[in-house]
Amino acid sequence: MKLDFAQPLAIHGGPKAKQTPFRPRRRHGEREKQLLNEVIDSDVLFFYLGTKVRELERQFAALYGRRHGIACSSGTAAVHIAVAALELPPGREVITSAITDMGSVTGILYQGLVPVFADVEPDTLNMDPESVRKRITPRTGAILVVHHAGLAADLDALMAIGREAGIPVVEDCAQAYGCRYHGQLVGTRGLLSTFSLNHFKHITCGSGGMVLTDDDRLRYFCSLFLDKCYQREEGIRNPFFLAPNYQMTELQAAVALAQLEKLPEFLEHRIRLGRRLDEHLREIPGVTPQHTPPGCVHSYFLYLFRLDTNRLRCTAEEFAQALQAEGVPAKARLITGGRPVYLYDIFQRRSAFPGSQYPFVSLDTGASRVYRAGDCPVAEAAFSQWLTLDMAENYTETDIDEFALGIGKVAYHYRKAAAA
Ligand SMILES: Cc1ncc(COP(=O)(O)O)c(C=O)c1O
Repeated sequence: MKLDFAQPLAIHGGPKAKQTPFRPRRRHGEREKQLLNEVIDSDVLFFYLGTKVRELERQFAALYGRRHGIACSSGTAAVHIAVAALELPPGREVITSAITDMGSVTGILYQGLVPVFADVEPDTLNMDPESVRKRITPRTGAILVVHHAGLAADLDALMAIGREAGIPVVEDCAQAYGCRYHGQLVGTRGLLSTFSLNHFKHITCGSGGMVLTDDDRLRYFCSLFLDKCYQREEGIRNPFFLAPNYQMTELQAAVALAQLEKLPEFLEHRIRLGRRLDEHLREIPGVTPQHTPPGCVHSYFLYLFRLDTNRLRCTAEEFAQALQAEGVPAKARLITGGRPVYLYDIFQRRSAFPGSQYPFVSLDTGASRVYRAGDCPVAEAAFSQWLTLDMAENYTETDIDEFALGIGKVAYHYRKAAAA
C-alpha cells in the first residue's frame, strides 16, 4: 500500500493521519462474569479453600509445559517469590536489565540482594549477553532475564552464561506472553519463570502473577513464600523464614482463567498487527522497528521503533509530540519513564530501606555498590532514540495503517528539514 507521507503535519495544521476513531476496548465479558459468579456462589474467595486458583495454576503450567504453576498477587510478587526461592544469602548480586519495570527489581532488594544492571543490545533493547558476562563475579547469585516488550532475550547465550558460571537463570516474562525463542515459548527454560496479570499486560485480572517451575522443591518453597510461610499442606503453622502474604484470591483467578481462554486470540491479533506495522516501517527511511532475531516470535506487548536521529535530527520526544498531534498514541521515554532503572533515586540515593544504605552497602562486609550515569551507555542512549506505541486487541488494520501514515509523515518532515 502506498501512503502519502508528503502531506503537512498535523502539528503544523495539516490533516491528522489518524482519521478513524478507535474501536472501544473490551477485554472482559460474559465468561469472566460466569466464572466470577461461580466463585461468589461458592462463597469461598480464599485461594487455599477454593478451586479457581488451583485450576489457573494447572492450566497456566500446562500451557507452558511446566510441572508447576504458583499463582500470586502481582508480577512484582512473582519475581520476589522466584528470587527468594533461590535462597541466596543477602549481599549476593543478581544481574538484570537496565531497562525493565521496577517490579523486576523490588524482590531482589527485599531479599537483601544487590541488583547489577546489564546493558542492552542496540537493536532489540534486550539484555546484551556480553554485558551480562562482564558483570559476572564470585558474588553473582543469579541472572534475571527480562523479555522486553514481547521480544525474547537471547536465551541460548544467557542460559550458557548461567551454566558456565554455575548460577540459576530466572525468566521475567511479564511482558512476553506467547513470545517464542527458536520455537520455544519464553518462560519454559528458566529454573523459575514469572508472569504478570496487571492491567497493561496481554491478559489481566487487574493485578496478579504466576511463577512456573519444574522443580518440586522450588514449588513447595514458593507456596510457602507467598503465604507467610504457613505450612498449610501439612496443617502446620510454624514459620521458619520471613515471607509476605502474596496470595491470589479466587476472584482474580476466575477472571484470569477467562482471560487465559482468550489469550490465543489476543496474541494472534497483536502479532498480525505488529507484523503489519513492521512491514510499513521497513519502507520509511529514518525509522527501524525493534529487531526480531531469526527464529523468534515477537508478541508485541508494546510496539517499539528506533529513530535514526543523525538522519532525522530530532529527539524521540519531538517525534512523539508530532505523532500525538497526528492522533498516533506514541510515547518517548520507554517503559521506565526516561532513564535506566539504576538512575532512579532509589539507586542514586541508595535509599531502598530509608535510614540505611542496605543492601547497597553490606552490613557484614561494608562492600559498597554505586550506580553511575554511564554504566550502561546503550540503554542510556536509547531514551533519545526509541519510541513506544501501545498495542491492543481493539486496534484494527486501519489503525495500524494510520499509525504508519503518521510515522511516515513525521519522518518525511524531519528528513526534509535535516536535508534543507
Ligand atoms: C518486566 C516486568 N516485570 C515485572 C513487572 C511487575 O508486574 P506487576 O505490575 O504485576 O507487579 C512488570 C510490570 O509492568 C514488568 O513489565
